[in-house]
Amino acid sequence: MIPIKSSEITPENVYLNRRTFMKGVGLAALGGLAVAACAPAATPIAEPAASTAGTAAPVATASTGATTDELGDPVNSYEQITNYNNFYEFTTDKEKVAGLAKDFPTRPWTVEVGGLVNNPGTFSIEDILSTFEREERVYRLRCVEGWSMVIPWLGFQLSKLLEKADPQSSAKYVRFETLMDPDKMPGERSSWFEWPYVEGLRIDEAMNPLALIATGLYGKELLPQNGAPLRLVVPWKYGFKSIKSIVKIDLVEEQPTSLWMAAAPNEYGFYANVNPEVQHPRWSQRTERRIGETKRRETLMFNGYGDEVAHLYDGMNLAAYY
Ligand code: MTE
Repeated sequence: MIPIKSSEITPENVYLNRRTFMKGVGLAALGGLAVAACAPAATPIAEPAASTAGTAAPVATASTGATTDELGDPVNSYEQITNYNNFYEFTTDKEKVAGLAKDFPTRPWTVEVGGLVNNPGTFSIEDILSTFEREERVYRLRCVEGWSMVIPWLGFQLSKLLEKADPQSSAKYVRFETLMDPDKMPGERSSWFEWPYVEGLRIDEAMNPLALIATGLYGKELLPQNGAPLRLVVPWKYGFKSIKSIVKIDLVEEQPTSLWMAAAPNEYGFYANVNPEVQHPRWSQRTERRIGETKRRETLMFNGYGDEVAHLYDGMNLAAYY
């Protein structure tokens, strides 16, 4: 299932000089390649008329002035973060997401919080923005495909929202759902996946202070390609857990089945913790390509957040719970 050759993962030095590279090999040649490593080959996805990517102006530094993460690695540029995306509801081509998602309407927007909670409710994005104070968090994002970025998110702890909903004691997991609207998200017409995009966390993972609901980055509101108006960010897990454009959050008793688990259960598990010792069946996870760098770097256990999250998995065999 989902047959992709390792040669189809973007080579490490490509994105740095993307535009030069594109000119060099020609768009037609690139178009012949199957896309993302976790994508099905040649997924037929209806796309709206061509539009231009990267409408927002790049800025030089993060809003708080943070130019690095806590390990001293530089934040990626606004242009990189907003023009190299995975968002299969639009396309599997990372460099076309921005253009195709450009006019995606993110207002009005509501999020339904329910399931096993004492305070269910439907909140507008305006309610959410006025209720939860936002802060900047500079996090590494490590995609399961083997690339990574450092992103200055703007958001609030998921725990704050869950505390307001007041989970019942039978609630064991949190299930998240992306908008289902194929007219606005044409990728949802693809029969490769069971839409809508669904993700989940164990409740203690969701309550961990690192788990963030992001509504912005670089001090600006999120653009559609990054999951506007709100998305999850769980930095110790592979990027696919960080579900975008959320409309529904349910507290549930059973472990949710994510879109990726349903698509390829032997490749994508529920936990998806970044782990250089547990290999993807089709490629190694030992190293990664930081967007903007030429040399591959070592992948860090839990993406470098072990001090904060390793205890969540005490006694678990992480090779079995991948
Ligand atoms: N959420 C939805 N709804 N649809 C997606 O296709 N892709 C995931 C994740 N969230 C995805 C999603 C993957 S594979 C990654 S790596 C990150 O979003 C990428 O986030 P970014 O484009 O903001 O860097």
